[in-house]
Amino acid sequence: MIDRYVSHDELQRLISALLVMLGFIGLAALFGFIIVPGLRFQAHTAQDSPVIAVQGDAGWLDPTDYPRRAQQVIPPIDPKTVLTPNPELMERGRALYAQTCATCHGVEGKGDGPGAKGLTPVPRNFAVAAAWKNGTRLEAIYRTLEEGVKGSSMVSYNYLSKRDRMALAHVVQSLGAFDHGASDPKAMAALEKLFASAGEVIPNQVPVSLAVDRLLQEFRTVPELQAAGNNPLLEEAVSNSALAAQTLGGLPGWQSSEQTLAKGVLAGLPGNGFTPVVATYSPARWKELRTALMGQGATR
Ligand code: HEC
Repeated sequence: MIDRYVSHDELQRLISALLVMLGFIGLAALFGFIIVPGLRFQAHTAQDSPVIAVQGDAGWLDPTDYPRRAQQVIPPIDPKTVLTPNPELMERGRALYAQTCATCHGVEGKGDGPGAKGLTPVPRNFAVAAAWKNGTRLEAIYRTLEEGVKGSSMVSYNYLSKRDRMALAHVVQSLGAFDHGASDPKAMAALEKLFASAGEVIPNQVPVSLAVDRLLQEFRTVPELQAAGNNPLLEEAVSNSALAAQTLGGLPGWQSSEQTLAKGVLAGLPGNGFTPVVATYSPARWKELRTALMGQGATR
């Protein structure tokens, strides 16, 4: 019946045109419903990845974490006990060297420790006299330990006591069988004066792992505020309950004082989970808000 209106050829062309159009619509749907949303949500991972302390393959942080140690006050030292090496000093120095320096400089001081890979400039080879920037004399090595070497991974070790730094300087010299040069009498006199004059305070030291624990504790998730729906004041003041809970978590003492609450909340506006309306609140209103928030179980 239809061939009364269109010829057979024309009908074939119409049908193939229809099929091509359906194909296009199908492709568009594929893009619109599957591929584009897939791309959009690709970046949203389902869960936060766990926090893991950094660990290099040379074990920077792991095997020899700093021991926990209380602050120490060290009285001035007798220069005679550190300016020339003695067995006790050397023993202490060698232990420190193994713990702190060997990762880069190598057990024998050849600049080939496991941590030396890929460092530019490379760690100094203590066995040879060449290329020392500060010099090989005792006071020069002491200075290196005090200041580090700019532009390199040789940092300052002035967190160690003066005695420990002198011990290390002697150990570094002992690792090279060459003439390290006689010390400059003036420089040695200055060191002698430095050691004999002032004592020093070595600050508290905590293991890295403990410090990380403390940090995590500080940022632990604060319980979320419940939906503000049943309290008109909260509904007005809180725009994002999770954020608001976070804000309160970082605001010690807000439960006991509306001034603290107001100051802390106003300082973080906007974007801390509270609405800008709170900027217009009277002290009495802040008090109400504090009470309402405390009823929310958002206490720490
Ligand atoms: C992170 C790796 C690293 C550690 C750990 C390290 N050093 Fe170094 N050290 C270097 C590098 C790299 C250089 C070479 C700096 C340059 O050439 O600029 C260097 C250079 C030196 C020098 C020679 C400075 C000069 O005059 O050229 C001395 C001395 C030295 N280190 C002593 C020590 C001692 C002692 C310790 C342990 C308390 C130590 N280093 C720990 C990387 C390290």
